[in-house]
Amino acid sequence: MAEHLLAIDDVAEDFESILKWAIEFKKMWKAGDEIAMSFTPLADLAVGSIYEKPSTRTRVSFEVGINRLGGYPLTLSKNDIQLGKSESIGDTASVLSRYLGAITYRCFGHEDVAELAANSDVPVLNALSYKHHPCQAAADLMTIMEHYQDTENLSVSWVGDGNNVLHDLMLACAMLGIDFTYAIPKGYEPHEDVVQRAKDFADENGSRMEEFNDPVEAVKGVNVIYTDVFVSMGEEDMKDKINDFEGFQVNMDLVSNADNNWSFMHCLPAHRGDEVTNEVMDHKNSIVFDQAENRMWAQMSLLSYFVDNGAWAAMADLMGIYL
Ligand code: CP
Ligand code: NVA
Repeated sequence: MAEHLLAIDDVAEDFESILKWAIEFKKMWKAGDEIAMSFTPLADLAVGSIYEKPSTRTRVSFEVGINRLGGYPLTLSKNDIQLGKSESIGDTASVLSRYLGAITYRCFGHEDVAELAANSDVPVLNALSYKHHPCQAAADLMTIMEHYQDTENLSVSWVGDGNNVLHDLMLACAMLGIDFTYAIPKGYEPHEDVVQRAKDFADENGSRMEEFNDPVEAVKGVNVIYTDVFVSMGEEDMKDKINDFEGFQVNMDLVSNADNNWSFMHCLPAHRGDEVTNEVMDHKNSIVFDQAENRMWAQMSLLSYFVDNGAWAAMADLMGIYL
């Protein structure tokens, strides 16, 4: 198994089990099951989370999840630590590894989280970089599996920017053999290396992966429509970018082209009125808040998997998950 989670395909081998684990564990925990509630693989461990950008979901879901697994969360804002001022990423990783059981890192360049991982003796989980958002994709696919039970013959469509969330979502869908289409305005396409990795998984699993420029074509008959902000964190000087996304808003007209039982997904935060209308966000078919909740359960599975794989596997066995 991989030592760190930089992109979702780092856990390609065990991805489905990680998601099933999260779904079963959530059920047990909510039913007050004593085994789940006393599962504390992070006991006596501190987990540090470095943030170079703001966060609501990632920060709170990690803090609560770490607590529930018996650990102690330490949230480290970049403004409060030496990283980026007088200390390198490598030295920061070497120092933090002496105190912590794991590190999560939300950063700008993907090379920064890769450098932290390369110098860390403890697992590093990418909490969003400019290129990847694997924790989001784990929660997203967990939500899809929970909602549809069976992922056979399922299709997901992305409409919007070719960004970090899209990258891990396309990888994750292809890793599970889920058909995937995406519509992106010209000039904002996803990174070619990620598309190639996703295509390889899709070929291996016999699923479809297709790019469109027309959102209507992309969403025709699909089960799930997903979008994200048109302007991501770190792109504040590219605000005019939004003008290139005319026709890419997810609204009731667009979703009328999807399957009758369509679902709407968004990693949040949403810019209502830009990439999505209120009608779609607040529609009964919108599952955006299930996704947000599942950030915590999916990350609990990932943290246990990376920090104490033996305990994670024993719990999987107990929950009847075949590894
Ligand atoms: N989806 C997501 O990562 O949200 P936050 O920026 O609030 O963490
Ligand atoms: N693409 C967005 C995702 C936020 C969770 C960003 O990087 O800002």
